Amino acid sequence: MSRTMPKDAQPRLLIVWHSRTGASAACARAAAAGGRADGSARVVLRAATQVRTTELLAADGYIFIGPENLASMSGAMKEMVDRSYYAMLDRVNGRPYALIITAGSDGSGAVRQWQRIATGWRLKPIADPLIICTHADAPETIAARKIVPASDLARARDIGAGMANGLAMGIF
Ligand SMILES: Cc1cc2nc3c(=O)[nH]c(=O)nc-3n(C[C@H](O)[C@H](O)[C@H](O)COP(=O)(O)O)c2cc1C
Repeated sequence: MSRTMPKDAQPRLLIVWHSRTGASAACARAAAAGGRADGSARVVLRAATQVRTTELLAADGYIFIGPENLASMSGAMKEMVDRSYYAMLDRVNGRPYALIITAGSDGSGAVRQWQRIATGWRLKPIADPLIICTHADAPETIAARKIVPASDLARARDIGAGMANGLAMGIF
């Protein structure tokens, strides 16, 4: 449902992403499209390498999207967390978040690492983490540009829409 709200009254949804071969970037664009289509939140899409701590502090909710690398979140995403972790501590308590991990075959290590960080920040998950499998488990498939199936992009889009709508309705 699209609603017209003054821009300054709209909650802010911040989507932070990192991607090396395109899968997480596509999911981030889909999540942002879902959030924007809802029309009730201001959706900001930022690369992990670019996002500022002030933007993280100003957000009302978060979607973090990135690949699993070596059973962890990717280095660029971790650098974002390292740069912002202590500045955010006790200043974002209770805010909602969602997590999308793209993974060649697993994803659970990155999810666990994110959950520990989110617990430290006292963030509240709005849904189970979404792991999107890209079936990349050999050097050639890992290096290849990724095409994410429409059904997976739809799931990312739904998370964006659900987060935007929930923020605007104040249900988180
Ligand atoms: C250095 C490196 C390490 C990786 N390690 C894992 C891993 O531990 N588990 C896994 O499931 N996939 C692993 N992958 C595969 C990526 O998670 C997968 O290709 C993902 O779709 C990439 O997302 P992106 O296109 O957004 O970069 C690894 C890829 C790279 C480049």
